[in-house]
Amino acid sequence: MLKSLYMFTIAVVASLLVAPAFAQDATAGEKTFKKCVACHAIGEGAKNKVGPVLTDVIGRQAGTGEGYQYGKDMVLAGEKGLMWTQELLAEYLEDPKQFLRDYLEDSGANSKMSFKLKDDKERTDVAAYLASQGPDADASTQPTADQAQANEAEAETPEMSVEDVIAAQEFSEAYLTDPKNIEAGKEFWYAQCTHCHGFKAYPGKAPKLKPAKYKPEFVFKRVYKGFKKMPAWRDTYTVEEIRQIVSYVKAPGFSP
Ligand code: HEC
Ligand code: HEC
Repeated sequence: MLKSLYMFTIAVVASLLVAPAFAQDATAGEKTFKKCVACHAIGEGAKNKVGPVLTDVIGRQAGTGEGYQYGKDMVLAGEKGLMWTQELLAEYLEDPKQFLRDYLEDSGANSKMSFKLKDDKERTDVAAYLASQGPDADASTQPTADQAQANEAEAETPEMSVEDVIAAQEFSEAYLTDPKNIEAGKEFWYAQCTHCHGFKAYPGKAPKLKPAKYKPEFVFKRVYKGFKKMPAWRDTYTVEEIRQIVSYVKAPGFSP
């Protein structure tokens, strides 16, 4: 009796796992999505990173993810009617800049997303995966809180090279002056950086920072990658957290 109940349970669980037609691709696409997590989060509680949150992106007007600062050409494309379908998204991933140029018929159009996904199958798979994360998706393919957390954790060990992540950074005025970012960065600064930098640190342990002389990208690079006796912080902080530290270092209220 107990055994048959057990078998029954397995059968039910197995039937729940029988996913819609795109399941095969979506599963492969979930792996491909690891190439995206350095810049994109997905699922419950996902936050914007270098790129916008991608939950529900299929069916969404381009350039309208909440609270994310898009490039102007992406916003324009959305206003002109670009809605993400699986097909369009797969096309976009091949070369975001070229895609926007074609779509807007403007050879000067630009994309904030520098990453390109060259492999055809990876593109269609990851598009299927994103479709499986939308509101219309079968409930059994929704990410659990655990998965969302795993995605977050993976974001800290991206498969992109260190140089790729550094090259992908851009800091808009709006980002750098957002009080939310500055406040978060300030906390990290006092919790960590003042061990070596700043008036309370042992003199000579680290140079006094001269933020006026640094481009934000330079500060990001030093913090993400380290330099000589300055440790690398990329295993301690996420890309987004390091960006917040940069916004504090560049803020008028920064105290070196
Ligand atoms: C190096 C960082 C980076 C990587 C890696 C990256 N993206 Fe992006 N992505 C961005 C940025 C930045 C934008 C915003 C583009 C703009 O505003 O022009 C974006 C935009 C998008 C958009 C448009 C979203 C919207 O709301 O209109 C989609 C879809 C997307 N990315 C999918 C992906 C997928 C899938 C991958 C992995 C295969 C990926 N991206 C990898 C940075 C990245
Ligand atoms: C363990 C000590 C230590 C900690 C902690 C530390 N740094 Fe540094 N940092 C250094 C040293 C040493 C240098 C000088 C490296 C060199 O140029 O040889 C440096 C250099 C830098 C520079 C480049 C300065 C220049 O003028 O070239 C920046 C920017 C910087 N640190 C930011 C930070 C931030 C932000 C944090 C906190 C996340 C931090 N550091 C934490 C030791 C530290």
